[in-house]
Amino acid sequence: MRLLGIETSCDDTAAAVVVDGRTALSNVLASQDEFHREYGGIVPEIASRKHAETLNFVIRHALAAAGCSLRDLDGIAVTCGPGLPGSLVVGVAAAQALAWSLDLPVYAVNHLHGHLFANYLAPAGAEPVQPPQAPFVCLVVSGGHTDLIHVEAPDRHRVIGRTVDDAAGEAFDKVARLLGLGFPGGPAIDRLARQGNPHAFDFPRGLAGDGSFNFSFSGLKTAVRYFLDAHPEARVDRAADVAASFQAAVVDALCEKTIGAARRLGLRGIALAGGVAANAALRRELRDRAASYGIAVHMPALAYCTDNAAMIAAAAYYRGDRARVRPDDLRVDPNFAW
Ligand SMILES: Nc1ncnc2c1ncn2[C@@H]1O[C@H](COP(=O)(O)OP(=O)(O)OP(=O)(O)O)[C@@H](O)[C@H]1O
Ligand SMILES: [Mg+2]
Repeated sequence: MRLLGIETSCDDTAAAVVVDGRTALSNVLASQDEFHREYGGIVPEIASRKHAETLNFVIRHALAAAGCSLRDLDGIAVTCGPGLPGSLVVGVAAAQALAWSLDLPVYAVNHLHGHLFANYLAPAGAEPVQPPQAPFVCLVVSGGHTDLIHVEAPDRHRVIGRTVDDAAGEAFDKVARLLGLGFPGGPAIDRLARQGNPHAFDFPRGLAGDGSFNFSFSGLKTAVRYFLDAHPEARVDRAADVAASFQAAVVDALCEKTIGAARRLGLRGIALAGGVAANAALRRELRDRAASYGIAVHMPALAYCTDNAAMIAAAAYYRGDRARVRPDDLRVDPNFAW
């Protein structure tokens, strides 16, 4: 089953062709970073306009890279939410037009399901990945979410924890801004932290040991801010140590709660997903710490961590009829819940 995936929920315009939810024949992405950078964050109006300008080109490119045409497709998968309404509507309108004109089935995909199913993807020509075996715990950690999910079956999900304030990716972006590292901040902190000492400063681990599976990152972000206000010189001569110590606090909190959930629920597998899953320290720490409890950790290849359309096609394949809608009924759902 060959699905065209379309993703425009935030600031990346993406299209991909995926076979049987596992093999990405193509995965094309047009980043808007350069248009948002000067504002230090995503400007919704700019994002939706850029999607409208770029999406047709990105879809054509995804088909060409996959070596197929619109006639070879078996369906269209599109992100309907959660996300920015003005951004979502561009992808949904394109999917609807394609489904109508080609008489193809259409799948309304939850962006967060997409992040989870990124764990099932490999590029064409590569060894297929061994997907996590349900039941397992999935940590979806991105720019807008930090959700802990009990995946009881591939298409049965139960939210067992989430952030009570900022998402981890948001904290990365805000702390990067405090350090003058630009946008998006996650990759910049990841790089800078490699030269720093993660034990240099003791920043707080929100909600540590509270017995819940929830997270909190706003206190950590504020602690970094107060620290930099009190020690302005640290922005210059200790930036790498601040980045590494901040990152260590985030990684510690994420690992503690995720491994704690897997242990308490008696689950032998953990899957990582979302943009922050690209973080090198998180990937290493989660794998190492979980291994000491005999828990296997699955994580997507880097290209499938941050927003992409291959994960949307994968989610549509695995959700099947539960995601399928009549093209006339396709709607954006900015608050689409798990
Ligand atoms: N290497 C990295 N280390 C830490 N954070 C990272 C890294 N790479 C990306 N990020 C962060 O991931 C986030 C983007 O992830 P993603 O594209 O999944 O989020 P989003 O789609 O904006 O949000 P959501 O999926 O919740 O709607 C940003 O906050 C970015 O800073
Ligand atoms: Mg995302």
